[in-house]
Amino acid sequence: MQRTLILLKPDAVQRHLVGEIIARFERKGLRLVALKLVQAGRALAEQHYAVHKGKPFYESLLSFLTSGPTVALVWEGREAVAVCRNLMGLTDGAKSPPGTIRGDFGISVQNNLVHGSDSPENAALEIALWFKNEELVTFAHADATWAG
Ligand code: RTP
Ligand code: MG
Repeated sequence: MQRTLILLKPDAVQRHLVGEIIARFERKGLRLVALKLVQAGRALAEQHYAVHKGKPFYESLLSFLTSGPTVALVWEGREAVAVCRNLMGLTDGAKSPPGTIRGDFGISVQNNLVHGSDSPENAALEIALWFKNEELVTFAHADATWAG
């Protein structure tokens, strides 16, 4: 079963959208594996967005991610990486279709509310970056045979 890391970025927390956004992943049928509120520091933000180092928006992106608390979650389910990326929408909120998280709540490129891992390989690395192994909780879900 695939796992993915989702971050509700500081704009989602400041705009009181945490419950609304979590509900979308939850209702889709994804299973919650881990959840916490984190004040990311520079080192964590640098590691998380290492792939963007050197790009013009890199410093601004680090400032944004460290500007306030982030909610970090791990979701599990069939095709969890792609399912979550589809729920999120496109990077640019202005171009993201209605019905997606970024399409419904954002108009910015940078302040786009959510992060989702873009491959199972990166998901494994990102989960290990944000969570200790003992923070990942595996349990039986009563609706497993219904939600898939
Ligand atoms: P994420 O990694 O956060 O899930 O977003 P993504 O895959 O849709 O987009 P990515 O290309 O990985 O960019 C990472 C984050 O950097 C900010 N960004 N700003 N100003 C810009 O041109 C620009 N481009 C990207 C966004 O916050 C984006 O989510
Ligand atoms: Mg990305």
